[in-house]
Amino acid sequence: MKVSTLIVPALASATLVAAAPAGAPLVESNKLRRVLLRSDLKARAQELNAIAVQNNGTRAWGTPGHWDTLTWIESHVDKNYYNVERQYFNITRQVFDEVSVTVDGVRSPDVNGMTNSPNGTVSAQIIAIPNFGCVASDYPAAVAGKIALVHRGSCNFGLKNALAGTAGAAGLVVWNNDPTPLQPTLGTPDLYNVTEFIVSAFITQADGQALVTKLGTGTLPATVTNLFHEQVELTANILATTKGGDQNKIITVGAHTDSVRAGPGINDNGSGTIAQIEVAKALTKFSVNNAIRFCWWSAEEDGLLGSEYYTSHIPEEEASKIVMNLNFDMLASPNYLYAIYDGDASAFESPFASNGSAQIEQTFIDFFADDGKKSVPTAFDGRSDYQGFLQIGVPAGGVFMGAEGIKTAEEASFFGGKAGQPYDACYHQACDDINNLDYGAFITGTKSMADAVAKYGRSIAGFPFPRPAAKLIPRRALSEAMVPNPNKGKHARHGGCSKALEA
Ligand SMILES: *[C@@H]1O[C@H](CO)[C@@H](O)[C@H](O)[C@H]1NC(C)=O
Ligand SMILES: *[C@@H]1O[C@H](CO)[C@@H](O)[C@H](O)[C@H]1NC(C)=O
Ligand SMILES: *[C@@H]1O[C@H](CO)[C@@H](O)[C@H](O)[C@H]1NC(C)=O
Ligand SMILES: *[C@@H]1O[C@H](CO)[C@@H](O)[C@H](O)[C@H]1NC(C)=O
Ligand SMILES: *[C@@H]1O[C@H](CO)[C@@H](O)[C@H](O)[C@H]1NC(C)=O
Ligand SMILES: *[C@@H]1O[C@H](CO)[C@@H](O)[C@H](O)[C@H]1NC(C)=O
Ligand SMILES: [Zn+2]
Repeated sequence: MKVSTLIVPALASATLVAAAPAGAPLVESNKLRRVLLRSDLKARAQELNAIAVQNNGTRAWGTPGHWDTLTWIESHVDKNYYNVERQYFNITRQVFDEVSVTVDGVRSPDVNGMTNSPNGTVSAQIIAIPNFGCVASDYPAAVAGKIALVHRGSCNFGLKNALAGTAGAAGLVVWNNDPTPLQPTLGTPDLYNVTEFIVSAFITQADGQALVTKLGTGTLPATVTNLFHEQVELTANILATTKGGDQNKIITVGAHTDSVRAGPGINDNGSGTIAQIEVAKALTKFSVNNAIRFCWWSAEEDGLLGSEYYTSHIPEEEASKIVMNLNFDMLASPNYLYAIYDGDASAFESPFASNGSAQIEQTFIDFFADDGKKSVPTAFDGRSDYQGFLQIGVPAGGVFMGAEGIKTAEEASFFGGKAGQPYDACYHQACDDINNLDYGAFITGTKSMADAVAKYGRSIAGFPFPRPAAKLIPRRALSEAMVPNPNKGKHARHGGCSKALEA
């Protein structure tokens, strides 16, 4: 590994950043934003891409590329201005040993395991389920004892699994709804009000289409195998908290540091990581009234594990000091839109809507409007690292520039770019590299972060804080939030990138 050649220059430049001198001016949005430069974002993106390139093209957690990413972030954070901490934690990873689907003696090509599927083999007749298998009535009585073949889309994999299992199915095969490969995750059974999942596997679109045609309304003998072993691996979050500011009023700001295994993850979520580095640097020229804690989360791509570790292990007294969580996910999508989490549920139903989250949404709406730019609401659906904060009652919000979703004609009229094309055609792929960023969008997104940091770093007047005792949202509510409501809002789209919660 060539960490040293990469890290040394970064360390050298970091030492040039002075800590806030005594009597530094109180942070102000326009002054903080002025310190941010497109050229710095570009330089950081190049450094991060170099880390991926030197590490076999990936920065996924648990890989050397991710550890190098953490060292690199720390090299850019001024230790005079921030208390910097690594929060280590273990993740149990499922390593697939054998995953296969065989129908009528023919073995499917390119089968992927579904994380959190039970370990085992099921042999039974397979039956095709019409619709997307997202409501109980999609499953006929005939599915009992059989393997259900279900199309990907419209709701989470976990919900399909739970509904098929509740209808008595013995196994589940989901077929892809687009040609892009995916490593799917079921989430956890309690999210879907079941005690266990049924054995599952994921096949390609072409294979699924052929099987549906072959099966018609009939059945054929099939076997689904999903065998894995477990491996415990260490990873870490980085938390950098201003030494200045009221330590009982902490504004948390988060982005995830890991990429998917398939690619370098420069937009997803290198862009959030980089924006945070640059805002954290710029802030050192100012003082704050309220503490700011920049959080770089690990293992977002496997189901928000880093942020959930943080929020589920934080002592109640510490949690009560957190005023809000600002989340930045994919801040430079090449065919971007400026989407703001719909914290007041005006466009999308959400069990998480609250006065605090509504105020955060308004802060971002105002930022884009003042900057002469349009913005649209995006589902406040918990599909990113703010979810754990909502679960402990902390209001949240943030900006997202689009993942695999398709840009509408209206959005293209608002933001330019190409209607009918994905916001990020390289989402979760090897081409999510240095050339996959829109730097105009990137600097705007970074400034939106700076604006919120400056505003709330100065004052939280009018914000609901201190909160009444932390209110735990039942996990059950989450799965309901994951089911898109076709009757509400025209921007029906997931507001985050985590594949764990992907439909
Ligand atoms: C690099 O990636 C290739 C392809 O994914 C893989 O086969 C190989 O084992 C990886 N090497 C290391 C050192 O991780
Ligand atoms: C992680 O697991 C290893 C071995 O299983 C253990 O030694 C270590 O203390 C654990 N670390 C943390 C932070 O839990
Ligand atoms: C959860 O499942 C139990 C048992 O299957 C059922 O009685 C209950 O109504 C379900 N609750 C919800 C909220 O769906
Ligand atoms: C999964 O099942 C296989 C075969 O029975 C077994 O070897 C393996 O240890 C099991 N994995 C786990 C995590 O229990
Ligand atoms: C970027 O990081 C933020 C903060 O953790 C996270 O919410 C978001 O999901 C990440 N973006 C993507 C596209 O992964
Ligand atoms: C939040 O509550 C305050 C105080 O009740 C109220 O003045 C304000 O309008 C509310 N804000 C939003 C966005 O709902
Ligand atoms: Zn992602």
